[in-house]
Amino acid sequence: MQSVLNILETRISEVMAKVPGSQGCPALVRPATDARFGDYQINGVMPLAKQLKTNPRKLAEQIVAKLDISDICETPEIAGPGFINLRLKPEFVAKTLVQVSKDATGLGIEKAEKPKTIVVDFSGPNIAKQMHVGHLRSTIIGDSICRLLELQGNKVIRQNHIGDWGTQFGMLIARNRRTQFGMLIAYLFGEKTAERMTKVFGKRPDDASNVIANTEQLYREAKKQYDSDPKFAKRSREFVVALQKKEQGALNYWKRIVELSINECQEMYDKLGVKLTKDDAHGESAYNDDLPGVVAELKKKGLAVESEGAVCVFPEGFKDKEGKPLPVIVQKSDGAYLYATTDLAAIRYRVGELKADKIIYVTDARQGLHFEMVFAVARKAGWVKPETELVHVTFGSVLGEDGKPLKTRSGENVKLKELLDEAIERARKVVEEKNPGLSEDEKKSIANAVGIGAVKYADYTNNRTSDYIFSFDKMLAMEGNTAPYMQYAYARIKSIERKAGDKKVDVKQEIANIKNLNLTETSEINLAKHLIRYGEAISSSAGDYRPNYLTAYLYDLAQKFSSFYNDCPVLDASADKRPTRLLLCDLTAKTIKHGLHNLLGIEVIEQM
Ligand code: ARG
Repeated sequence: MQSVLNILETRISEVMAKVPGSQGCPALVRPATDARFGDYQINGVMPLAKQLKTNPRKLAEQIVAKLDISDICETPEIAGPGFINLRLKPEFVAKTLVQVSKDATGLGIEKAEKPKTIVVDFSGPNIAKQMHVGHLRSTIIGDSICRLLELQGNKVIRQNHIGDWGTQFGMLIARNRRTQFGMLIAYLFGEKTAERMTKVFGKRPDDASNVIANTEQLYREAKKQYDSDPKFAKRSREFVVALQKKEQGALNYWKRIVELSINECQEMYDKLGVKLTKDDAHGESAYNDDLPGVVAELKKKGLAVESEGAVCVFPEGFKDKEGKPLPVIVQKSDGAYLYATTDLAAIRYRVGELKADKIIYVTDARQGLHFEMVFAVARKAGWVKPETELVHVTFGSVLGEDGKPLKTRSGENVKLKELLDEAIERARKVVEEKNPGLSEDEKKSIANAVGIGAVKYADYTNNRTSDYIFSFDKMLAMEGNTAPYMQYAYARIKSIERKAGDKKVDVKQEIANIKNLNLTETSEINLAKHLIRYGEAISSSAGDYRPNYLTAYLYDLAQKFSSFYNDCPVLDASADKRPTRLLLCDLTAKTIKHGLHNLLGIEVIEQM
């Protein structure tokens, strides 16, 4: 369904296009910045007046005189230097809201004019290191971007560019092998023998089974031994060589470690309600065989040159502080390939094989220069068509209450799992307080929905480019733009609907029968106006890759619903008002559920 903004823009553009000399000046219809002046404003008149060197207010008058939008808006008002303010007519709002409720999506969502194939590269954890809070943002922001773009009708291909290759695997394999050896001995000859044997062969971790189950511990212990035990370090390096030579034994160990690590990540994705599966994992190792070809092609095209033994590309326009050209190193002097080489191979694959029209990378802002340079090289090499869009969607850091990057007391990165567990635990306390009579299962599932929802929603509400302070108290508050507030707003509407159905009337039928709405009260009209703009909120959120536009819309909606519910009785409304008000309740609940559940992957609760 076409949005109101779009309809207005089309109509106004037609009038503006008839003004001689107006080429290149769009109508620029935008939501009004101040609701007191209307619902939308036309911003395009002033640039047009400038282009025509004429008085903007006069031009605005001429355009208004020719404009026929009386079926949609009250008489347009010219304001300031030449803005045109538009206010929707209640009859139009009523008619549109009925259309929205009967639309295929039931929500009036706009589909993309030309659907695209869009690759979204997000999450990208590094193998054998547990996901920490830094990966949280990429994972959940990326997930909502995928859902938004998909909803618009695009073909979205999720790519989890996991860090599953590199020299660290040498020591992981060496360590993993030792652990397995220890376990085998313990299994065959008992724990005592295992202990004696491990004394001879080196230290064995106390709980061997745990080491295999948790790759992070494996990493930590491997690193410790690597730094302290030269024999182990040597063996580790031998494994790196073996891996590079693709020796089967080494490859098997590597595969096993990668698999364990992916399983650990998958647990997190499931917990977070993020739509990523093992099939979306297409990590760095997937490009190993392409890397020599990437370098060779760059050389052949005259883009890559030898510089201090390394192979480098110097894309135009990138300079260091002293003004010297900056290199993208694609191969080190020892023959090793780099992060950038893999990213170049990935672009080639995504455009060539996956047929991407657009590739979106969701990583923290610090990788900005890396991607700018990689994009420049890929374009220069002709691996990307001029019309293919490459977008780096950046985000800031998660900070602790002290304003510094979030760390544990001992200075370690905060683990995502521990963070979520704590959120659930705290949410549980709130549930216990508010609703002690619920069953154990209900308490558990509400605490889960609220806890995880709170962490995610807090992240989404922040403008993604800024840093934000992580605060359990704030995100779990029942007031303000938080998940519990939104979840509660939803549950409240559901309880109204349940009560409405108590009197043996079929509310669904009552709503379905509605042909015309009876909107009279200001708070009714305000709520209705907001409801017909859900599609606009989605378009702007998807267009800028900013989930906070969506959360702001949802919060507004909940607040407008609150005013409406304060002013207007629903259950005891007169017969001519009741269906209208029930429909407003129903659409508000549907919209909140769609926004939270379908687009942000946050559970709603029917009863709170
Ligand atoms: N593994 C990387 C990290 O943890 C993120 C990968 C981002 N994607 C990419 N194509 N480079 O920083």
